[in-house]
Amino acid sequence: MTDITIESVLQENRTFAPPTALAQAAHVSSMAQYEELYEKAKADPAGFWAELAEQELDWFKPWDKVLDWQPPFAKWFEGGKLNITYNCLDRHLTTWRKNKAAFIWEGEPGDSVTLTYAQLHRQVCKMANVLKDMGVSKGDRVGIYMPMIPEAAIAMLACARIGAAHSVVFGGFSAEALRDRLVDAKAKAVITADGGFRKDKVVHLKDAVDQALADNAVPSVQKVLVVQRTKSEVTMAAGRDIWWHEVEPDAAADCPAEPMDSEDLLFILYTSGSTGKPKGVVHTTAGYNLYTHMTLKWAFDLKDTDVYWCTADVGWITGHSYIVYGPLSNGATAVMYEGVPRPSNPGCFWDVVEKYGVTIFYTAPTAIRAFIKMGNDLPNARDLSSLRILGTVGEPINPEAWIWYHKVIGKERCPIVDTWWQTETGGFMLTPLPGATPTKPGSATKPFPGILADVVDMNGKPAGDDEGGYLVIKHPWPSMLRTVYGDEDRFRKTYWEQIEPKDGQYFYFAGDGARRDKDGYFWIMGRVDDVINVSGHRLGTMEIESALVSHPAVAESAVVGRPDDLKGEDIVAFVTLEGGATASEDLKAELKQHVVNEIGAIARPGEIRFAEALPKTRSGKIMRRLLRNLASGAEIAGDTSTLEDRTVLDKLRQGDPESA
Ligand code: WTA
Repeated sequence: MTDITIESVLQENRTFAPPTALAQAAHVSSMAQYEELYEKAKADPAGFWAELAEQELDWFKPWDKVLDWQPPFAKWFEGGKLNITYNCLDRHLTTWRKNKAAFIWEGEPGDSVTLTYAQLHRQVCKMANVLKDMGVSKGDRVGIYMPMIPEAAIAMLACARIGAAHSVVFGGFSAEALRDRLVDAKAKAVITADGGFRKDKVVHLKDAVDQALADNAVPSVQKVLVVQRTKSEVTMAAGRDIWWHEVEPDAAADCPAEPMDSEDLLFILYTSGSTGKPKGVVHTTAGYNLYTHMTLKWAFDLKDTDVYWCTADVGWITGHSYIVYGPLSNGATAVMYEGVPRPSNPGCFWDVVEKYGVTIFYTAPTAIRAFIKMGNDLPNARDLSSLRILGTVGEPINPEAWIWYHKVIGKERCPIVDTWWQTETGGFMLTPLPGATPTKPGSATKPFPGILADVVDMNGKPAGDDEGGYLVIKHPWPSMLRTVYGDEDRFRKTYWEQIEPKDGQYFYFAGDGARRDKDGYFWIMGRVDDVINVSGHRLGTMEIESALVSHPAVAESAVVGRPDDLKGEDIVAFVTLEGGATASEDLKAELKQHVVNEIGAIARPGEIRFAEALPKTRSGKIMRRLLRNLASGAEIAGDTSTLEDRTVLDKLRQGDPESA
């Protein structure tokens, strides 16, 4: 466990009330109503969720039992049968929504496609039938490695349609990272594209898939379905690779949704942990469907008239829950955008808002900080008056960035919904409800109804007002991760045994530090484990260290995060070299590139520091706390008495970070 002391330094006293007109028309329109829902859910969580499951979802067969909680294993709606794609597609086709836009997609080069619910249904059925022809069946896993194009969502839905679990790997990950994830999931097939457009360049996704599968490295993969996007040259392996555009015209446009058990595997999504390889976070069908549906509906006050836009990539949980499943289950219109702000088009986000009349805009603090740097002229030159609600996710938002978002983008009209949640939680856990909750800049405010959140010490004892501690959840919720794929032991240890259960009370350990103020508002203080949050993406230090050590010149390495204005945190790698290797600027550059090759560009260290030795405890554990202090240029704080060799620290301190 971590050895840091959690101290809170943030003092923020401003509060912002929900706009009256918005509150009056909202699904949840007052604090009193929120409290009522919260108390109702707390008194009888199973009853609360059962009522919503009946109202909001369509079932092929009702469940027998709402919740079976055998800590740390929860089962929701056992005995029930449903298919999430039925709730996302079919049920809208018998209503006026049949010809409503499900996705409005805009490509980076400026091309665009609108898919109505009827059209999306057709495409999903076609791809589902193609998957069947490829030999994929219920219970199989399928890897998805795609750019941000409609086919990414279609691929996910096509898997769910036939009961195959998807495992989406972010298109920015390297071939090596893709291979590891495909191996772990024992994927039967991969869905990819020739390439994608990113910052005016082509990312060659198919080449990466070929590399990942080379030398029969992933024997489970039998077929690869390839979508044509960039028309770049690719090699198609005979008997293995299939072009989507060649099989799509003849595929049947009808494919009944496979009846799934509530607890059947819906998807695996890999996320970084503090030790070892990435964890395959497992989500199942019914609870996930219900929870993403309800959270999006209430936390973004989603209405049929909204044009909702979440800027995440489908490769992350935010894309899964709040680009694909949550919006479609609600019958919403969602914008999907392939591009990101880039030198050739820094104002592209505001163009998209203006072009489509976006009403709900959901992005990350790292993007907001980048917008601030680009200046107010870009947003000021666009008509942003359609916006009514703004959202943020991924890391704590600095109060000043919050205020900028509120003023410059929201024109002081739009509530900001700061949603705290994780890959593991499936959906929003702490969040304002825009018509009810007064907001405070930097606080994710209060738990969603049904979420029993607390701040406790290592013994599970609740922290006092404004006292720092560990954020925990004290009751299972419908979209909670069910396990770590193929590693139950890791599931127990990582999430349920960090804080020892007491008297039948289990604590879900989120790995975040937090405090709660006297009004019951939660303030997230960042990760307490060895996970670095770079631009809202969780990277395990262990993975980056392993990548560095795989380079022949590196003997040992320790990676820590350093506060960074733009990215939230930047990666600093301390490296000791093998005997024959010589420290140099060239080697630093080479090591950075090596990490990019092994993991992907998001993991590129901002700085490499060569060291003679790393500070360790007597038991041989690297003291990252000290390295964190050094990396951020701070004084060494806290106890150093467990250091095995004090001179190591003195040498590190004296070392000029820039020289080799
Ligand atoms: C951080 C992303 C503060 C946190 C949905 C969490 C946040 C990790 C917030 C999960 C927020 C996410 N305020 N911190 N609103 N949202 N985080 O799994 O450290 O990619 O544990 O899920 O991001 O990252 P993940």
